[in-house]
Amino acid sequence: MPRPEVQAPPEIFYNEVEARKYTTSSRIIEIQARISERALELLALPDDGVPKMLLDIGCGSGLSGETLTEHGHHWIGCDISKSMLDVALERETEGDLLLADMGEGLGLRPGVIDGAISISAVQWLCNADKSSHEPRLRLKAFFGSLYRCLARGARAVLQFYADNVKQSEMLVSFAMRAGFAGGVVIDWPHSSKAKKSYLVLTCGAPSVNTSLPKGKGQDGEACSDDDDDDDSDDDQTVGTYGRDRMKKRQKVNKNNRGKDWLLRKKEQMRKRGRDVPADTKYTGRKRKSRF
Ligand SMILES: C[S@@+](CC[C@H](N)C(=O)[O-])C[C@H]1O[C@@H](n2cnc3c(N)ncnc32)[C@H](O)[C@@H]1O
Repeated sequence: MPRPEVQAPPEIFYNEVEARKYTTSSRIIEIQARISERALELLALPDDGVPKMLLDIGCGSGLSGETLTEHGHHWIGCDISKSMLDVALERETEGDLLLADMGEGLGLRPGVIDGAISISAVQWLCNADKSSHEPRLRLKAFFGSLYRCLARGARAVLQFYADNVKQSEMLVSFAMRAGFAGGVVIDWPHSSKAKKSYLVLTCGAPSVNTSLPKGKGQDGEACSDDDDDDDSDDDQTVGTYGRDRMKKRQKVNKNNRGKDWLLRKKEQMRKRGRDVPADTKYTGRKRKSRF
């Protein structure tokens, strides 16, 4: 299945039916809780027993926010899908909910947030869902407003699914331009299913405290609980931010596109209503280097 963000704009994709389906799937509940736990760990809040005011960007029906509540924190959640927020209200989640498009800026007062998480949401900003959408302007507005609303030294941990290396690069570069220090932490990089990418950002100039934590499973150890979901990153191999390293990896990916990749891309294009030739036994067949 192609990822939701290539199928329709978020407020359309997460309609009443999909919002309910999403929230009642035990598989999704379990995966989102596990990712939220990890995001909270990467947020590295001071262990002083004082509840913090956190932000959950793209909070949906409140699955990720529940983890914040379980850890004793207050939270504000924002989401563009009214149906998702309606389900969150029905479920009586603890957070304060805002119907808002993060691509237009978060509109919160400066310095009031102690930390932010976002689970499976910011990749939507890389798509232009309307003719008026310019992803670069939306990323600029989002990261600028996120930087402003965070207290100095606070962190934001944004778990995302990128369609390709360019999207990851775009997210990192707009975050850096807004003033953040940090980069991408990848857990379980060798597992196609369990691999997860987290943009770990600190508000303020780079220092010892802003050095990136290590991703899990970097040494090739196997993940015992691979997510059996469609959410694993597609050809995503970005490690911590470094331009040269990215260019090198991008090259490897480009040459690594096989038949499965081609069939997936064709399916995505069909879903978008494009005219795509039918699949045959020749589709994606490896050509000889010389005729
Ligand atoms: C996969 S759901 C994740 C929801 C929640 N974080 C969780 O873990 O269950 C992604 C959410 O991001 C929201 N989203 C996508 N684009 C958005 C935008 N531009 N502004 C605010 N929310 C957005 C969607 O509406 C959807 O609820």
